Amino acid sequence: MRILIIQLLFCTYPIFSFGQHGIIPTPSEIQERTGQIFFEDKQITIQAGALESETIEFLKGEFKIIGLELSEAKDADIVFIPLSNLPPEAYNLDIDEKITLTASSASGKFYGLMTLLQWIGERKHVIYAQKVRIVDSPAFDWRGLHLDVSRHFFTIDEVKRFIDLMVLYKFNTFHWHLTDDQGWRIAIDKYPRLTSVGAFRDSTVIGHYSDSPRKYEQQKYGDFYTKDQIKEVVAYAKARSVNIVPEIEMPGHSRAALAAYPELSCTGEKQGVPGLWGVFDDIYCSKESSIKFMQDVLDEVLELFPYKYIHIGGDEAPKARWDECSECANVMANNGLHDTHELQSYFIGRMDDYLTKKGRILIGWDEILEGGLSPNAAVMSWRGEQGGIEAAKQGHQVVMSPTSYCYFDYYQSSHHSEPLAIGGFLPLEKVYEYSPIPSELSAEEAKFVLGGQANVWTEYIPTFDHVEYMVYPRALALIQSLWCEKKPEYETFLADLILFHEDFLELHNVNFSPSIHFPELHVERSDNGVNIFWTTVNKQEEFSLRTSFDGSFELTETKNLKNGESVTLNKSSFAMPLNFELQSTELDHPLNYTFFPSEILGAQIDLVTPANKKFNHNGSLNLVDGILGDGERWKGDEWLGFREEKIELIIELDAIEQLKTISLGFLKSNGSWIYTPKSIQVSISPDNKEWQEVTNVMCPGETDAIYRPEIELNSYGKYVKITVYPLNEIPKGKGGAGSIPWTFIDEIQLKMQ
Ligand code: ACM
Ligand code: ZN
Repeated sequence: MRILIIQLLFCTYPIFSFGQHGIIPTPSEIQERTGQIFFEDKQITIQAGALESETIEFLKGEFKIIGLELSEAKDADIVFIPLSNLPPEAYNLDIDEKITLTASSASGKFYGLMTLLQWIGERKHVIYAQKVRIVDSPAFDWRGLHLDVSRHFFTIDEVKRFIDLMVLYKFNTFHWHLTDDQGWRIAIDKYPRLTSVGAFRDSTVIGHYSDSPRKYEQQKYGDFYTKDQIKEVVAYAKARSVNIVPEIEMPGHSRAALAAYPELSCTGEKQGVPGLWGVFDDIYCSKESSIKFMQDVLDEVLELFPYKYIHIGGDEAPKARWDECSECANVMANNGLHDTHELQSYFIGRMDDYLTKKGRILIGWDEILEGGLSPNAAVMSWRGEQGGIEAAKQGHQVVMSPTSYCYFDYYQSSHHSEPLAIGGFLPLEKVYEYSPIPSELSAEEAKFVLGGQANVWTEYIPTFDHVEYMVYPRALALIQSLWCEKKPEYETFLADLILFHEDFLELHNVNFSPSIHFPELHVERSDNGVNIFWTTVNKQEEFSLRTSFDGSFELTETKNLKNGESVTLNKSSFAMPLNFELQSTELDHPLNYTFFPSEILGAQIDLVTPANKKFNHNGSLNLVDGILGDGERWKGDEWLGFREEKIELIIELDAIEQLKTISLGFLKSNGSWIYTPKSIQVSISPDNKEWQEVTNVMCPGETDAIYRPEIELNSYGKYVKITVYPLNEIPKGKGGAGSIPWTFIDEIQLKMQ
């Protein structure tokens, strides 16, 4: 390294700009100083012996990616000062004549170096670092990323890469979801059939599991990790300041284990490893021999994983088998348990006792609250925040991972090119809004929140490239909530992402999602219909738009549109579907949109029952924006979602009209708990006071993916009230059985005489 003074630099590089990009996660304090240091010979040295050799090897690779050769030296460029009163993961990074890192632990040193990697820049082939003092420490101790290796298997090298990428952004907890219905992935010496049988399935469902009819790929699929491989990954993670939390699912999500050892179930029935996703009724029996099995498995797991937290799953365990099992009945009678929720609590309690005696902490999904939370258990809150709130109020440790902010298996844009996903809609901006401390908690209770985590369930993520696509850049948005006490505005984050971090990810060959660059369609009400316009993150970008009525764009003119420039669609101006083709420099292929003519385009609608805030894109306008909800690939924003026992809405017309028919669309996606309704009632009023019921339609039980009844009205009115009655509950034997189904509605069309 050579140190130059700033005047010399200005002479050499007159157009040099010293503005630095923003580090992610944003450090607590950054004080830029005057001047830079330069690495003219593209070498950088680090104090010898300060870090373990595997860490140094990783760092060599990382510095090489940014153009520097790292080596250890006595009189080094990067020196460490131990400061025992700093928190374990905190560091101070001082770049002056030397690069000085102050920390109290290997993690603190490591994070200082991760920051340095982002801080070092290159201009005109010169590598440099702006002089600076950075003081930094994390807001939360648990900054997790989870990976499901059961639904799809990822090799040891892929798992290592998952860890390599997470540490660039200071995640410190890798939740390794090692067992599930569709494959057992960890070798257990005492029970070899877990892997010889349980690691392999004969088929895998193709497409979405709620597709009808279902299709399967009839091919054997599976693999597992040997104990040596697991030890290797644990050591690999440790050298990168990552703790691994293994998850061994129980009592549900256990079909792979039951395929290997059917005697562990309530019925003893022999069944294969399923090639279908979902929630299965067959779970471990609560009898003593099954509990002993699980404790034996845990013994071997504890030998491999030194971190104190051990995840035992606990989610989605239907009680159908337990309700009918004489051995479960005996366990209940012998332990004074009143119902199978208490039995689940007993079951988890046995694991809690076992792990506690071994000096570990049990963590489980929030269902472990049912029937009473075990004394030492920690809770991972996924079905919203409520489980986490209850657990924290009871003085239990909590990790927040609510689906609506933290499920990276959800769609990240509504763009047509998005690969098939499980459902849900979680764009980058929504992740960025997340804060792990719910407002319901007092400051004292909030101390039980260890942090947060994103989950990567891989039913629809068959390759590691696809994992990267789902995780990045969303992981960068999440880490801001987990590391920063106070994070910058989303716009600042977005600018940092686009100006620097996308390049940084590209340097690391990360297959990150470009979805934030796709043009986003906006629809707003206008006097006589709607205005539509498109925006992208690059405000300078322009679009070209072609319009046609028959879908062939041959003869139509191309209109150039600026970012945010509106096109007006008047409801009286088109009687046939209107097609648009939008092109921009960021797109490989143009985007296509179809707007359907409607006499209530942009009409006022009173959502007497508000849509659920998870699925409320564009509010009531969504129902009359001219765009029909698509059932092919539901990406989450074309539909309004409700989860109520009754849904009521009122459409207001400009005047009293003679009304002929009304139609409205419902989505059926039972795998995502979305059902078509039981019945629909329509009433009409001249004044929004006196109502006359016109019809009450009973809906068929079996429908296509989109059910769109056209309902006769044949009456006069200015206001139309639609009341939708969903099924009382999701039927038995289906995912989510017993809970209120989702009702997804889109596009109401009204015909007048
Ligand atoms: C979960 O998503 N079933 C924890
Ligand atoms: Zn049983």
